[in-house]
Amino acid sequence: MDLKELCTLAVEAMGHAYAPYSGYKVGAALLCADGTVYQGCNIENASYTPTVCAERTAFFKAVYDGHRDFTAIAVCGGKDGVLTGAFPPCGVCRQVMREFCEDDFLLCFVTPEGYETHTLAEVLPFSFSAKTHMQL
Ligand code: THU
Repeated sequence: MDLKELCTLAVEAMGHAYAPYSGYKVGAALLCADGTVYQGCNIENASYTPTVCAERTAFFKAVYDGHRDFTAIAVCGGKDGVLTGAFPPCGVCRQVMREFCEDDFLLCFVTPEGYETHTLAEVLPFSFSAKTHMQL
């Protein structure tokens, strides 16, 4: 599974989005250390705050299935599912990534031209982690 394939799975996941309120469809594909991939989409709610992002859907599916080691996540999104640029994860999703991932965890943002990569250390520096807080 290379990053380009992971991006393709994120685009496919975007098609599963339930986003009748914002119209922004988001997809994610999370690569586990053992090669398993979990896809996620955003799922909105009439009451707004119960909305869950695509990245967290993917993480929670994977964690439920017993995965704890992750290598990379590809993310894409856009109004009505049309990609116009990178769709970086919100702060809450970055914090969820930090719960399970190290500094070198890779984030791939799908763009109309291809994808760009960043590390978790880049997108969430000075983070609060389970490792430092709970000595896990
Ligand atoms: N959204 C995600 O799925 N991931 C993010 O990291 C940012 C935001 C979703 C939530 C909401 O359904 C829509 O995008 C607009 O904010």
